[in-house]
Amino acid sequence: MASAKGVPYEEYVNEPNNQDFSSIPGDTGLPLVGHTFSFYKDPFEWARENSPKYGPVIKVNLLGGGGVVVLGPELMEHIYLDPGRNFSSRMGFLDRVGTFFGGSVIMEDFEQHRHQRRILQTAFKNDSLKHYTSEINGIYERALNEWDADEGKTVPFFMYVKELLLEVAAEIFIGEKGRGSQMKKINQSFIDCVNGTMYIVPFPFPGNTLYKGLKGRKFLEKTFRALVPVKRAGNDKDMLSYFSREKDEEGNYYSDEEIANQAIFLLFAAHDTTTAAITHTIYYLTRYPEAKEKLYQECKAYYDKTGKDQLDYEDLDQVPYMQQVFFEVQRMRTSTPLVPRRTIREEELAGVKIPAHTMILTVPRYTCHMEEYWTEPFKFDPDRFSPERAEHKQHAFLFHPFGGGAHKCIGMHFSQMEYKCLIYKFMLRYEFEARHKKEPFMQSLPLPKPGDDMPIVFKKRT
Ligand code: HEM
Repeated sequence: MASAKGVPYEEYVNEPNNQDFSSIPGDTGLPLVGHTFSFYKDPFEWARENSPKYGPVIKVNLLGGGGVVVLGPELMEHIYLDPGRNFSSRMGFLDRVGTFFGGSVIMEDFEQHRHQRRILQTAFKNDSLKHYTSEINGIYERALNEWDADEGKTVPFFMYVKELLLEVAAEIFIGEKGRGSQMKKINQSFIDCVNGTMYIVPFPFPGNTLYKGLKGRKFLEKTFRALVPVKRAGNDKDMLSYFSREKDEEGNYYSDEEIANQAIFLLFAAHDTTTAAITHTIYYLTRYPEAKEKLYQECKAYYDKTGKDQLDYEDLDQVPYMQQVFFEVQRMRTSTPLVPRRTIREEELAGVKIPAHTMILTVPRYTCHMEEYWTEPFKFDPDRFSPERAEHKQHAFLFHPFGGGAHKCIGMHFSQMEYKCLIYKFMLRYEFEARHKKEPFMQSLPLPKPGDDMPIVFKKRT
């Protein structure tokens, strides 16, 4: 059966993952578990350890099935741009993400992907972003007024940001204001779905991660599907409303199910990525006081010049150092530690033959630390992105935190707006210090963050 838009999915979607890695450089790791623990603990470190031995294309042996790790800007470009239409995003994400976020834009390939991506388009146009910016500033102001009460206490900054961005998602994505019980249930279901993607036991039974995740998914589906007709009939400006009113190439509304699937995935794609970016910014600023001071001075100068205690949409380009800080944080701790694909046919990468239906795992952070391109790659140095140095411009795919090609992040501008508006307010309002008990373990999966949730103490500036 062909998919709705004629993509011959039947040629590859029912094929099992290839498990013959005899043509691929690398070793098989420990008996039974292979590389499972070392790879999932930190795919970046794993890649750095193995690439000097085996090159840019390396087999990785994981419980539940192996794959091939692919590294470096040339190969990243080839995979993301996919001129031969040979890398399936759908099959790359299927196993874990697909269980909870099926039917979403990342789970489609080629024409069917284009068809689904149309659902999202109006919600990410300039006019829509302008509207969200002013709404988001209002939410941030309310939240920071509450945070003031915690002045002088040690607080887990990561948890504060996570909760705040869930509130933003509720209002901007679904149009639900406040923190009512329905919203709490939506947020909890969403968190259960994200945790569900990291299941260890592959069978659901009451209480386990997979069970809770599937239950969460059911609740989200039911809730979102019921909202679609209501949103379609109204003229609200939240994302779900835009999606509900979008029409396909033939001028028909998308089905309630298609819209619900996209909206649920959007929560997933948007939330942890931006939470990680903001949390890591505070992590690095507490370690690099010069960068912190320079960023504060930029915010202060803009405030002195304009009298604005918030960045409006048209101000977002007026804080170039903050932009460099954002990029440097993404380079140091890329919000998406792994980007998967699966080959459709046999492929040759850097002279290595990769069989059809092979899982490909790319590690964007690896490319961001290659010594041949970056000066002192482990140093937090936002000025490497300045127009004078522009280290990232040596290759189009040397620095690609938002991916590239057909699946390039649709929320790229939204996330930077969300980031800049909060960092601007936070820098102007508070002085802050880290309060780690010891140097934290930096977690990579399921989402990157300091393992101790980034304890800080903040004090209002006078
Ligand atoms: C720092 C923040 C973010 C980072 C680093 C990031 C990164 C990425 C990357 C690397 C991809 C491509 C994945 C692939 O090729 O398989 C992607 C896709 C996507 N992102 Fe983001 N993202 C961020 C924030 C957001 C936000 C805020 C939203 C929505 C409001 C969003 C929505 C999406 C969607 C819908 C896709 C799938 C696009 C498609 O398949 O066509 N992202 N993101």
